[in-house]
Amino acid sequence: MSSSSAQVIDIVAWFVYLFSAVLFVAGLHFMNSPKTARKGNQISACGMIIAVVMAVVVLFSKGFASLTSLIVLAAGIVIGAVAGVISAKRVKMTDMPQLVSIFNTVGGGAAALVALNDILTSHTAPGLVVLITAGLGILIGSVTFSGSLIAAGKLQGFAFLKTLRLPAKAVWNVVFVVLVLASFVMLCVRPDQRLLWSILTTVFALCYGLVFVIPIGGADMPVVISVLNACTGTAVAMSGLAIDNVALIVAGALVGSAGSTLSVLMARAMNRPLMSVLAGGFGSDVSSAGADQGVEGTMKETTADDVAVQLVYADKVIFVPGFGLAQAQAQRELADLGELLKGHGVQVSYAIHPVAGRMPGHMNVLLAEANVPYEELVDLDDINPQFPTANVALVVGANDVTNPAARRAGTAISGMPILDVDKAQHVVVMKRGRGKGYAGIENELYYTDNTQMLFGDAKASLQAVIASVKELIS
Ligand code: TAP
Repeated sequence: MSSSSAQVIDIVAWFVYLFSAVLFVAGLHFMNSPKTARKGNQISACGMIIAVVMAVVVLFSKGFASLTSLIVLAAGIVIGAVAGVISAKRVKMTDMPQLVSIFNTVGGGAAALVALNDILTSHTAPGLVVLITAGLGILIGSVTFSGSLIAAGKLQGFAFLKTLRLPAKAVWNVVFVVLVLASFVMLCVRPDQRLLWSILTTVFALCYGLVFVIPIGGADMPVVISVLNACTGTAVAMSGLAIDNVALIVAGALVGSAGSTLSVLMARAMNRPLMSVLAGGFGSDVSSAGADQGVEGTMKETTADDVAVQLVYADKVIFVPGFGLAQAQAQRELADLGELLKGHGVQVSYAIHPVAGRMPGHMNVLLAEANVPYEELVDLDDINPQFPTANVALVVGANDVTNPAARRAGTAISGMPILDVDKAQHVVVMKRGRGKGYAGIENELYYTDNTQMLFGDAKASLQAVIASVKELIS
């Protein structure tokens, strides 16, 4: 190919990548609301398809494509597309954080490989800018790869990961930070030894990812996943800078900045300084004796008929949804109960805790699916002052986000703002049995005088309550 046609291809590619980047930004904008999020996803996916097709065109037009690379390329696209479609269709909403974590693993690993390839395949020593950007791509991508793998395993509930402890975690953290930074600096100053230093940077960064995530306790995992997501974006942007690909730079920067903003907001919602979460181990060293200190008395069981009577004769009811609602897929039943009670003149609202469920906005998405009006969803700060005036707080599969243990020091959720459910006049908790919440501690709310337990799957319990309510008001 002549140099002028190569230049034309470069210019066309630049504009096409820029167009893809515009689609990513537009897609992200539409994701601001659950109503337009699906459209946002489709627009971003179009941007990604256009960018991939353009990358293939560039490869072929510049004569880089051999039969082997063609086979590898086709296999990569087919395997990636099939795995993506199957996992997106099959994964349950409640397992979404694990999927995000696996995607972070793949994204971080891919970014590291792209950067490694860029450094190792250049015949002449790369310039300092390429070494720094590609080096950061390797470093951040490798940390994300191993860290996200552990995070996905912990979220999936693999027992050996839940019980895995890292003695002297602070020492290991410092040791690997020093080793990673030292090898990265050596890569930049000794490009002639780039094979050695890029491999050492990769290995030390992989080890750092492990020692960074292993000590982090259950309740802090959402923040960590979000930080790793931001790392994936940053690694991709760095690799994009190294290979001069504007689509990668913009896509990576968008994921990096969105992930960082989300991490800060989530850490704030849990009342944790972000740095103390990242330093690792908040909550993982707390003794269960300390955590279960406030648990006294016995749980009082109730029946669906009794709950229906309490709800029908109430003036004000607050629904408190949590992970169990998503697990039971009972959002429609909860919305139906709300409509029935409103039709009977009861004031109904839904208390939304920012980390209820397993991902940011989980309860909002779930209740939007059941067409619950937005104005009935009330944030933590606005709903808490309303609990003392609520006749009934109906907790459906929420546990940690209602646990008064958060108000005491020495528990895995200490300091996390909670919904003040215990201040309602009567509390009814729907859950299957005596299982603990995600943070693994007892909930002292269940043992208080004004709380009654309706045991069973949330969907079945709600259906039984709805039937009783209908009988009472007909
Ligand atoms: P959890 O503390 O996880 O409690 C959920 C409760 O639902 C469990 O105690 C369980 O008790 C019950 N349950 C499960 N399946 C049920 C079903 N089919 N029917 C009825 N009840 C069922 O949930 P939460 O209060 O929403 O708190 C969220 C927790 O997840 C926090 O610790 C948070 O840090 C963590 N987390 C949050 C996120 C985000 S960003 N939202 C991401 C990852 C982790 P039984 O087993 O007895 O039924």
